[in-house]
Amino acid sequence: TIPTLTDQYQRRFTYLRLSVTDACNFRCNYCLPDGYSCDSDEPNLSIPEIAAVANAFALNGTKKIRITGGEPTLRKDLAEIIHVCKTTPGIESVALTSNGYRITRLLPSLVDAGLDQLNLSADSLHPAQFQLITGHDKLQEVLAGLDLALELGLSKVKLNVVLLQEYNKAEIDNFFAFVKHKNISLRFIELMRTGDNGAFFNAQHFSGQEIETRLLEQGWRKTDTGPHAGPAKEYSHPEYAGRIGLIMPYSKDFCSSCNRLRVSSVGNLHLCLFADENQSLRPLLSMPSEQVARHIRQCVLGKKATHELHNNLSGSTRHLAMLGG
Ligand code: GTP
Ligand code: 5AD
Ligand code: SF4
Repeated sequence: TIPTLTDQYQRRFTYLRLSVTDACNFRCNYCLPDGYSCDSDEPNLSIPEIAAVANAFALNGTKKIRITGGEPTLRKDLAEIIHVCKTTPGIESVALTSNGYRITRLLPSLVDAGLDQLNLSADSLHPAQFQLITGHDKLQEVLAGLDLALELGLSKVKLNVVLLQEYNKAEIDNFFAFVKHKNISLRFIELMRTGDNGAFFNAQHFSGQEIETRLLEQGWRKTDTGPHAGPAKEYSHPEYAGRIGLIMPYSKDFCSSCNRLRVSSVGNLHLCLFADENQSLRPLLSMPSEQVARHIRQCVLGKKATHELHNNLSGSTRHLAMLGG
């Protein structure tokens, strides 16, 4: 049997978030407010390197890989990436997080390649407001992508909404209504402070607690997802086909159920989205997978109990496109 990666706080890591590019074709006001600048000239991980990463994690008990960006659909070889991950022995499911730009055209081939789960984002359900936030008039495409994902039978389909005081706070009940007849999970994400969005954060952040209160008042109930399901909370309601999720990284104990590790598009292992240090796996990727796996097991012992968001004022993580959130 394969030992599960475990840290010194008894957290188990069966889930890898693999960024395949840090480039993005959107300009979300909370993420890349002042335009995009590349973080390094280093080439992205190649297909053989991705295969080596997937193998090493699988040897450590990883069962799920989520492909993130930047925007992963900017990689021409995305279907191949999905195929390589899905056919790695031990990997049971492959997920994708995308902004939805051109998703309807791509999705059938990605599903053929082995994609199991899809997360898209829509921070507003009004086209003009969506465009104001992301810089692109793509709301209809994103919503069509959601429906197509359900039609194609993906096992989990989620829609992310970043909570923003002045841009979507008034839409919260609309978002609840949106899942009435749709079997998706809609997740409200608290805005996180990064190095690039300080002023925006101060003006726009609001706590998911308010939403939690509103959910409970309206008959929603928290689902028990178990201790290793990850930091999101989930709520369901007998009269709704969909579920509502809350991602509240500023709340107490958020990190105690952390189940994920991250690898950047250039092969750096990040033990946390907001950790200061990272380790380059790239030089190891030509070695036997067991050796890479052993190195990862060692690194994980250094994972800290919680993220550094509370004191991320120095802004070591400049924006989440760097690492795919
Ligand atoms: P699944 O459980 O696989 O659906 O993953 P997810 O909920 O993390 O999916 P997604 O890629 O859509 O990310 C949603 C948001 O949650 C992003 O903004 C992430 O940055 C945030 N998030 C996910 N994991 C963490 C985490 O470990 N720490 C923090 N601070 N934020 C996270
Ligand atoms: N705070 C919270 N969520 C963010 N995302 C990007 N930047 C931030 C931030 N600073 C979200 C995107 C997408 C997910 C992958 O991460 O909106 O839904
Ligand atoms: Fe928006 Fe994601 Fe692109 Fe950032 S990486 S600009 S959040 S689509």
